[in-house]
Amino acid sequence: MNKVKKAVFPIAGLGTRFLPATKASAKEMLPVVDKPLIQYAVEEAYSAGIRHMIFVTGRTKRSVEDHFDTAYELENELDLAGKAELLEVARSISPDDMICTYVRQPRAMGLGHAVLCAKELVGQEPFAVLLADDLMVGKPAVMAQLVHQFSEWQASIVAVQDVPQEHTRRYGIVSGQNVSPNLVDVNGIVEKPAPDVAPSTLAVSGRYILTPGIFKELESISEGVGGEIQLTDGIAQLLRREKIFAFRYEGRRYDCGSKLGFLQANVDLAEIHEEVGIEFAEWLKKREPLCVEDRFSPEHLKKVLA
Ligand code: UTP
Repeated sequence: MNKVKKAVFPIAGLGTRFLPATKASAKEMLPVVDKPLIQYAVEEAYSAGIRHMIFVTGRTKRSVEDHFDTAYELENELDLAGKAELLEVARSISPDDMICTYVRQPRAMGLGHAVLCAKELVGQEPFAVLLADDLMVGKPAVMAQLVHQFSEWQASIVAVQDVPQEHTRRYGIVSGQNVSPNLVDVNGIVEKPAPDVAPSTLAVSGRYILTPGIFKELESISEGVGGEIQLTDGIAQLLRREKIFAFRYEGRRYDCGSKLGFLQANVDLAEIHEEVGIEFAEWLKKREPLCVEDRFSPEHLKKVLA
């Protein structure tokens, strides 16, 4: 039986929704409370039994490589200062049995193209894809839920959630037959359909397990929505040859590629954070918001009050 041993993290996108923060810095290094988005995703893959992490990087993403490398000077300082707990925090980012490999996507040509850049490193085996800007909170971890499904079906699995009809334009949307309450035998997938033509409201979240057959499909497709090579289009083609399932995972997803989702993640995770959670929750209850005049410019205020 095939096992999922490798995970691909496409992190070469431009992060335009998060400008100006992402002009010269990696979106994936934005911290939710105290941990960068990419570390949440890597920990999720690791907890699903995956040990080989493949990052598809681009310009401005070098800090990701440094983050998963040994920080010799820092570790030495912490050691000398006897700060054992912090030393453990720094060291545990990269456990000894975890392998990290990096490949560059020369231009942001789309998620499908980014995944294709990992072809040689993945080889002929099933692999996971995790989009770090979708922060997932689940027990067990959402990728572990997908790996479990894969071990049963030995077919590609995409993570899905139900979204409001008016939001279909933001996602890949799947259609198909229910195999069980949380599993759908997919018969169609389309990228960012308008609400009136969307085949369902089942939206793909940023977690996938794909068979290596996807690479051949990605090599043959041309630009789709937004002039990019879309992973969704590759999956639609793969569907002609192989079975694909959509899995309604248990857990919560935060779209940390958007400012609103990022803020929501920070509030929710801060509230349960071991160190600051209790104080933060109390502060949230009692806080006095800045008054409206301080928050908005006169022009914006006119719009808000109109
Ligand atoms: P997004 O569209 O959410 O991210 O792509 P983006 O392009 O970085 O952000 P915006 O839309 O401009 O704000 C989903 C994931 O695919 C990666 C992104 O890094 C993100 O993790 N991606 C996207 C690539 O690696 N390469 C690409 O060419 C496009």
